[in-house]
Amino acid sequence: MSLLEIQKLRTHIRTAGDDARAVDGVDLLLEEGESVGLVGESGSGKTLLALSILGLLPEGGGAILPGSSIRFRGEELVGMGGKRLREIRGGEVAMIFQEPMTSLNPVFSVGNQILEAVELHRPLNRDAAKEEMLRLLGEVGIPDPEARAGDYPHQLSGGMRQRAMIAMALAGEPSLLLADEPTTALDVTVEAQILQLLKRVQARMGMGLLLISHDLNVVSRVCDRILILYGGKVVEAGPTQKILDAPIHPYTRGLMGSRLSFDDRRRTLRPIPGEVPEATDWPRGCRFHPRCPEVMDRCRREEPRLLPGTERKGAVEVQGGAPGGGRDVRCWLLAGEEGGA
Ligand SMILES: Nc1ncnc2c1ncn2[C@@H]1O[C@H](COP(=O)(O)OP(=O)(O)OP(=O)(O)O)[C@@H](O)[C@H]1O
Ligand SMILES: [Mg+2]
Repeated sequence: MSLLEIQKLRTHIRTAGDDARAVDGVDLLLEEGESVGLVGESGSGKTLLALSILGLLPEGGGAILPGSSIRFRGEELVGMGGKRLREIRGGEVAMIFQEPMTSLNPVFSVGNQILEAVELHRPLNRDAAKEEMLRLLGEVGIPDPEARAGDYPHQLSGGMRQRAMIAMALAGEPSLLLADEPTTALDVTVEAQILQLLKRVQARMGMGLLLISHDLNVVSRVCDRILILYGGKVVEAGPTQKILDAPIHPYTRGLMGSRLSFDDRRRTLRPIPGEVPEATDWPRGCRFHPRCPEVMDRCRREEPRLLPGTERKGAVEVQGGAPGGGRDVRCWLLAGEEGGA
């Protein structure tokens, strides 16, 4: 049984006009202790995918569509509510939110907030919980936990605040951590430290990690496997090294072009021309086709399926085997007649 098994997930949002098809048929498998990266530009559906796992959708119009399944250790989360969902949320499955102030309340000290999270999810008395809170602050590398516990979020630097959020996420001893852009607001040196920290606690706790970032560079430093998301769909998925060595999808190759190594940060970025369309208005055919440097006629008409693929001597070809195991790509470049949606 997998730690997390997402099948055919569609999360749409009702708007005044057409529905925003933010997540539109995603399969994702994450094993115990595995780290998977979710990468895509702004608007590709990363956050809504993570929020769907915890059933935290935008008020008013967000809905997971029938036919979608999200199983956590075999237990179906879609449609789950009440006590069990509250137990899982912040307990077995924790999330570091993209918007830091969603997690940290400005009017309480970070120590108090972490203490509250410990008490909510662990059967400890006050003293033991307090000790655990201080241990967590130490675990995430906050120096002098006794003193820092009394600090309010605004008194901490960006890096220290991020560490406090990680401590809070770890308070329930999660077996799955969803981390949504946990380093985006940080400078390069602090970012590297936070990524190292995530990697270390993940390994030590044997925790599954879903790391979300628009930056392929970030996830490739932490994750075993990477899923590339575009237009609410996975366009390429595979082991990190394979993706880095030989990206197949033109979108992935575009992301690689805008991927900068550590020292290259200040050099010019080569972004993919054009913009991600609105989720209410995906183009027909392949959703990437208006921006694709290798667009063909067929791409404008028909949507490609996700197929197992490999690349040999520069030529892309279809490989046998079920999707999920190795390398999956959604592109007409590697499809014969069988690649249709
Ligand atoms: N509350 C909402 N109402 C309407 N549309 C929304 C809402 N939230 C998200 N969307 C739309 O759903 C799509 C996916 O949004 P999501 O926030 O998941 O993207 P993302 O990949 O996390 O982007 P970012 O990198 O900017 O965080 C976008 O087109 C967005 O405009
Ligand atoms: Mg987001």
